Amino acid sequence: MTYDLIIEHIGELLTMEHGEGPIRGEDMKHLPVKKNAAIAIKDGIIAWIGTQEEAASLHAKERMDAGGKLVSPGLVDPHTHLVFGGSREHEMALKQQGVPYLEILKQGGGILSTVGATRQATEEELLAKAKFHLDRMLSYGVTTVEAKSGYGLDKDTELKQLRVAKQLNHEHPVEIVSTFLGAHAIPPEYKGEPEAFLDAMLHLLEDIEKDELAEFVDIFCETGVFSVEQSRAFLLKAKEKGFSVKIHADEIDPLGGTEMAVGIGAVSGDHLVGASPEGIKALGEGNTIAVLLPGTSFYLNKGKYANARGMIEAGAAVTLSTDFNPGSSPTENLQLIMNLASLQLKMTPEEIWNSVTVNAAHAINRGDVAGKIVVGRKADIVLWDAPNHHYIPYHYGVNHTAAVVKSGRVVYR
Ligand code: NIG
Ligand code: FE
Repeated sequence: MTYDLIIEHIGELLTMEHGEGPIRGEDMKHLPVKKNAAIAIKDGIIAWIGTQEEAASLHAKERMDAGGKLVSPGLVDPHTHLVFGGSREHEMALKQQGVPYLEILKQGGGILSTVGATRQATEEELLAKAKFHLDRMLSYGVTTVEAKSGYGLDKDTELKQLRVAKQLNHEHPVEIVSTFLGAHAIPPEYKGEPEAFLDAMLHLLEDIEKDELAEFVDIFCETGVFSVEQSRAFLLKAKEKGFSVKIHADEIDPLGGTEMAVGIGAVSGDHLVGASPEGIKALGEGNTIAVLLPGTSFYLNKGKYANARGMIEAGAAVTLSTDFNPGSSPTENLQLIMNLASLQLKMTPEEIWNSVTVNAAHAINRGDVAGKIVVGRKADIVLWDAPNHHYIPYHYGVNHTAAVVKSGRVVYR
């Protein structure tokens, strides 16, 4: 047998070979590692995993030398706002003067400023721009991402954003899982009429389903945007129509979206900075995954981070994401988020690696295909310029990726 590719001289191989399902609570401390390992790939699939000594006698068309360093599954980023027009650097001065994020939105800026730019952009422009950002994510070791709409808030633009994500999923090595976030803000046309706007967004689900444009539906549950009750009703209707649901909950004000999300069986609750003790308890008991976004807390500069330690102690499954977007978290760098998780969320390196692989995959319903290096799975693999798994959460602000393999193909080095 001749393999297509052998990756050898792996000092530390993070196989992430846990049991079924997301990793919860105390179990997040356990990191399955193989030392002195090698991987053989055939037809895009991991065909063999063994020791370096065994690998020496195997044949392959190509060999990659990991140089005794760290190798992990391709990272999964489970919460991004990948497709949008324009950027918001002009809001930096307002931020510096202390104008709150929700106040900028209230004045018609923030998300609504990006809505204006996204409505104006052509599909080709949005595609080129999203590709630029996705290339960057790949360079940081990400092989699967979730991508939300939510900068259209009208039929044409929301569908345009979702078509761009679908197109990019076909063209780009990184796999994209799409989420419809039409309920991201209330557009000027519906000012003061949130219910009517939510109804209009629910109508889009037929087109979305027909053209297979999204798997998930999400909503921004926040002061001045949508209430917990509105969010619950909206997400339940989306569930009835067969969509999986997620929610931006308790990001800025603690409204109680966390426990509501668990109560309705959301696949994930995202942000959760203001989650109450009841919300945290609910995460520990239910099946909703906590998607934490410390880059957003850092960038909103409020000095408050999600209670990751409390969630893990309660038995929750925690994951991490960039929240890449033009307002509250303009970064494609998931490695930086791993540093923030270490410093600000006090997560251990083992918890962090479990978060950005297995748990992130489960947060976007890809637990059975992404996030692990096991025989029979697609070969999504990152070779790191790092001696061990402690190193990346520690050495911050630079890119440690040495090479990325997606479905068995070397797509970055
Ligand atoms: O996850 N909070 C709502 N949505 C994004 C920010 C979007 C924006 O500011 O453009 C978030 O923080
Ligand atoms: Fe977000």
